[in-house]
Amino acid sequence: MINKLNHVAIAVPELDAVTDFYRSVLGAEVTEVQNLWDHGVKTAFVILHNTKLELIAPLGDSSPIAGYLAKHPAGGMHHMCFEVNNIQDVVKELNEQGVRVLHEPKKGSQGRLVIFTHPKDAFGCLLEFEESA
Ligand code: CO
Repeated sequence: MINKLNHVAIAVPELDAVTDFYRSVLGAEVTEVQNLWDHGVKTAFVILHNTKLELIAPLGDSSPIAGYLAKHPAGGMHHMCFEVNNIQDVVKELNEQGVRVLHEPKKGSQGRLVIFTHPKDAFGCLLEFEESA
């Protein structure tokens, strides 16, 4: 079902300090910040040779990462994203396997269709699946 690791996401209270850390201290390429009103987050990507980090900070009053940041005020690892060939096939397979899919496929931070699954069904990890085909 899953192919490459597309990214690991780090949730933080605000992006400036963390983009600065990855760009200036670690010398990595970091993309511009984009606002994803649909997802209630602003994001920037750290581009590495073999994968990416997605830096996410809350956007708007009801950000889905607000709860996470209340528990982890300094920020921390939030989710992992795997590439898949066909998102509808993955939704069907996950449903059949009893893994709860949290929403219908929608456009994610990279303009491709994504879904998230319930952390309790993946040993405490929030997983994102992104259609790469
Ligand atoms: Co993500």
